Amino acid sequence: MKKVWKSSAFLLVAATMFLTSACGSSSPASTSGSASPAATKAAEAAKPADKKIVLGFAQVGAESGWRTANTKSIQDSAKEAGIDLKFSDAQQKQENQIKAIRSYIAQKVDAIAFSPVVESGWDTVLKEAKDAGIPVVLTDRAVDSKDTSLYKTFLGSDFVEEGRNAGKWLVEKVKDQKGPINIVELQGTTGSAPAIDRKKGFEEVIKSNPNLKIVKSQTGDFTRAKGKEVMEAFIKSAKAENTKMDVLYAHNDDMALGAIQALEEAGIKPGKDILVISLDGTKDAFTAMKDGKINVIVECNPLMGPQVMQIVKDVVAGKEVPKRILTKEGVFPQETAEKELPNRQY
Ligand code: AHR
Repeated sequence: MKKVWKSSAFLLVAATMFLTSACGSSSPASTSGSASPAATKAAEAAKPADKKIVLGFAQVGAESGWRTANTKSIQDSAKEAGIDLKFSDAQQKQENQIKAIRSYIAQKVDAIAFSPVVESGWDTVLKEAKDAGIPVVLTDRAVDSKDTSLYKTFLGSDFVEEGRNAGKWLVEKVKDQKGPINIVELQGTTGSAPAIDRKKGFEEVIKSNPNLKIVKSQTGDFTRAKGKEVMEAFIKSAKAENTKMDVLYAHNDDMALGAIQALEEAGIKPGKDILVISLDGTKDAFTAMKDGKINVIVECNPLMGPQVMQIVKDVVAGKEVPKRILTKEGVFPQETAEKELPNRQY
């Protein structure tokens, strides 16, 4: 008799836990990323303390120095946090990232984190994760899904603000200059959050000075090779049209470094004949800035691994996390390069 009571009680607890988590995953209340105390308890009970959390991380690729540092930060922090990390590199292709996320769902990981290569086209796979009860954490880049309950939180930079900071530096730098100032722009990956937002923020600020005009703008896909290739084409067409290029606005350091190589090969002095504005703040870019080839770097911080692991632990435990978590960043003009270079960690 005692035995029957015990197993019925177990079934009741198990059924309550199942219903609580099933309701939690489809309820509109989950849009806030929070969980009820009952759901938290259920999640904690469902995950024995000694069992390692399994995290599936779908990385964008290895397109830049920034990305390499980001990957290392994720891998090192997972190890340190005792999280079992399943890692994939999508080689900058959305279909590869979707495949990786689906495979993490099939493996029933405890959480999925990813840095979406582009903003659009995620709703279906995110819904599949949600239906499977797997919490998703966005890192570095955003998605444009209207249904924000499809992910728990987004940890990353404010790319619009980064673009504004680049624009503000330029507006101040050329405030006494007369006549047209021609800007050439190397955009990041087409459709990606940083490319869209960095352009938007920069344009918003530079329109305060009618002399500033973007005369050429093309994607360099965040890579050094593409940055060089596109800059070579810019130089060629500027020569043919007999137009001057006064400013280079590169959406990341790798493209800026590739462009610097192209400029030097064409006999143009980067940082002197043409102002160079870059984003990220890698050691390589700071070295180039110390050598006078870059005029300002707007920082974008890739070292988000420790924060990602804490968020993952929290969401797996059913704890409430803020829907948006911003990373802290600075602006470094050329005169700070020498002092700052030894402090760079990536
Ligand atoms: O999403 C962050 C951007 O992606 C970095 O600025 C760039 O270097 C990287 O490839």
